[in-house]
Amino acid sequence: METYQFPGSAALFKRAAKVIPCGVYGHFSPAPCVPADAYPFFASRANGSRFWDVDGNEFIDYMCAYGPMILGYGNPVVDEAFRAQMNQADSCSLASPKMVELAEYLVNLIPIANWAFFAKNGADITNFAVMIARAATGRKKIIAIRGGYHGTSPWMQAPGHHGVTEEDQENIVRVPWNDIAALEAVFDRHPGDVAGFISTPYHHPVFADNEMPAEGYWQKVQALLRKHGAVFIIDDVRCGFRLHMGGSCEYFGFKPDLICFCKAIANGYPISALVGVEALKNTAAKVFHTGSYWFSAGPMAAALACLKELKRLDAPEILRAIGRKLNEGMVAIAKSHGYDLKVTGDPGMAYYRITDDPTLMLHQQWCAECTRRGAFFTSHHNWFVSTAHSDKDIQQTWDICDDAFKAIKS
Ligand SMILES: Cc1ncc(COP(=O)(O)O)c(C=O)c1O
Repeated sequence: METYQFPGSAALFKRAAKVIPCGVYGHFSPAPCVPADAYPFFASRANGSRFWDVDGNEFIDYMCAYGPMILGYGNPVVDEAFRAQMNQADSCSLASPKMVELAEYLVNLIPIANWAFFAKNGADITNFAVMIARAATGRKKIIAIRGGYHGTSPWMQAPGHHGVTEEDQENIVRVPWNDIAALEAVFDRHPGDVAGFISTPYHHPVFADNEMPAEGYWQKVQALLRKHGAVFIIDDVRCGFRLHMGGSCEYFGFKPDLICFCKAIANGYPISALVGVEALKNTAAKVFHTGSYWFSAGPMAAALACLKELKRLDAPEILRAIGRKLNEGMVAIAKSHGYDLKVTGDPGMAYYRITDDPTLMLHQQWCAECTRRGAFFTSHHNWFVSTAHSDKDIQQTWDICDDAFKAIKS
């Protein structure tokens, strides 16, 4: 099988490193993609389940822009809704009727939601959710899961990160995932001072197996938070509309007070949403939160079209079916070469790890060999599938996986 070269990406990265800190920063940084020479850094075009890098190499994309792409790149229904709105108005001096339409749609779609609020990024709304929890309770402490991620604001970053002070972290109390006793202990240690609890619906850290909630975990968490009057925030930024159209809490059977959505809500157009229960609506109205582009109507029209399309297709079921098929085949191919490929998390956005080497080096090597052959895999982050991933894509991916296993063996 032919393997790709990336001279165009390397040349652009050299230029980027001169004028942009890190060259390419944040979650698109090539740093965790090891070995770096097996990865493209810049894409020139994308369509359906695929993108093309600046060297013209074609990839079946299993990162889906790290989650936003859910219906395939360039989905005609979403793009047409966006274009039609752009012909009317986007950023303007007044709010758009699309904002009201989108809020009404979300309130109807999401059982716990009585209101919706829009911003741009995931961090905008996880911040807002935490501010609402503090404003509603008059308390300071926020409980978060160790290894959980809610964006780049200083309170959300892991302790010890550059530019983050001890004071930024002072009121964040971290507990292990799936540990009710640890959660209870926080309420004992900080009586009357816990404003809220923020968590993803299941645990999807980087560089580690993903973990589902234990039987009864969410119901116990919900009861504990209600007992102590703390606000229950679900960060559905990554899982939202991939597990269940009503929010991932519906999939797991519990009722949070606030849900944060972003990524897949508009198939890549920039918009995030916070939805919440009636009891927090007045507090949400009092907390000041806004941004230069938060009223742009194009992404709101795209979100409406995307959500309707996801619902029409029953996208969560399609994604799980595609994921299951892909995963079963890959595990069998790994086994045929004598390797154990462990798959954790939801099938449509699973985390993969070859367990035969606990250092992850073998897994990194295999992901790199697959990427060199046209299946874009990272080794540190969960992957994503979209409704545009076809049987042909899956078969081609299996062929690539097979060849990559041969390569790492030799
Ligand atoms: C669970 C979760 N929460 C919050 C965020 C932050 O979103 P953003 O990068 O749009 O601020 C992310 C981003 O990856 C995420 O996965």
